[in-house]
Amino acid sequence: MISNNDIIEFFKENDAISASVIEKKAGLSHSTISKALNGTRKLNKDHIRKLLPVLKQLGFDKEAYLCRTLAIVNNKGGVSKTTTVHSLGIRLAELGFKTLMIDLDNQSNLTANCGVEDSAFHILSPGMHPIDIQDNLQLIPCNMELDEAQEELVGEYDQWTRVRDILRPYKETYDFILLDTAPSLGIFTGNAVIASDEVLIPTQAQKNSVEGLNKVFRLVESVGEKFDHKPRVGGILITQYQNTSVQKMYAEILRERYGELLFDASIPLLTAVQQAVAMNVSIFEMDRKNAAVKAYLELTDELLED
Ligand SMILES: Nc1ncnc2c1ncn2[C@@H]1O[C@H](COP(=O)(O)OP(=O)(O)OP(=O)(O)O)[C@@H](O)[C@H]1O
Ligand SMILES: [Mg+2]
Repeated sequence: MISNNDIIEFFKENDAISASVIEKKAGLSHSTISKALNGTRKLNKDHIRKLLPVLKQLGFDKEAYLCRTLAIVNNKGGVSKTTTVHSLGIRLAELGFKTLMIDLDNQSNLTANCGVEDSAFHILSPGMHPIDIQDNLQLIPCNMELDEAQEELVGEYDQWTRVRDILRPYKETYDFILLDTAPSLGIFTGNAVIASDEVLIPTQAQKNSVEGLNKVFRLVESVGEKFDHKPRVGGILITQYQNTSVQKMYAEILRERYGELLFDASIPLLTAVQQAVAMNVSIFEMDRKNAAVKAYLELTDELLED
């Protein structure tokens, strides 16, 4: 991601740009930028997050962007992988980050949740292209034919790296790429991990879910060993959380085992999320005050602090 120094450099190269005007536009307090320019303070991630959309309009060098690519992975089904991709995608786009979501699961849940019916193509189809979901947010959808594509992919020289190679040009134009994966550790999930810088693991605070997490860690490690690329586990997210004594206990076990890797935000189990999914809309289109929306906002902030 962009650093304090990248922003300082931009201001120094463009000395006609007024720091105080930009501070106002970005909602930063007075002198934040001028102090950064004279070296008496550093811009933190929150400052940078607010500045990016404003500076982008002034020609902030897009090549300087380092796209952050995240695979959302858990071989356990129904743990909110798709809901998390969709919610993160919407929030990042709202904050001004150009975001691409990719549906790599032939159930096509993300595609449906985005309101796209019967996509004519999937990521490996010739002529596939991202489609607009809302400002700053696009989707490479999926359909059932991904199954056949998988059969054809097996045994090819690039069976593990095809998605990474397809995504390469997109990494130059997007700030974030989010890959939604199927509940398996199969070839497309492997492709997603290899294409990513980080893996985010949603999990319920329950026995089997917690015990199963090491499989995802092993996948990430084996990718690091086999390919010249080391993705990292960027975080573990508790989803569908209920404040029961058993779930509290497993949340504590996760904290002890994974420490800082566990996001502070956890997503509560809420009927409103099920309703949104049933209606093929995002939770942000329902009541924005609900606790799941709040939790996804917190999650996005934590992700941006990293
Ligand atoms: N926070 C939540 N509260 C209540 N229900 C939720 C929550 N998050 C997800 N769900 C429900 O759980 C189901 C599974 O969610 P989702 O599709 O996001 O999981 P998934 O991990 O992508 O599933 P799969 O492994 O099948 O791809 C959905 O029907 C959704 O409505
Ligand atoms: Mg899913």
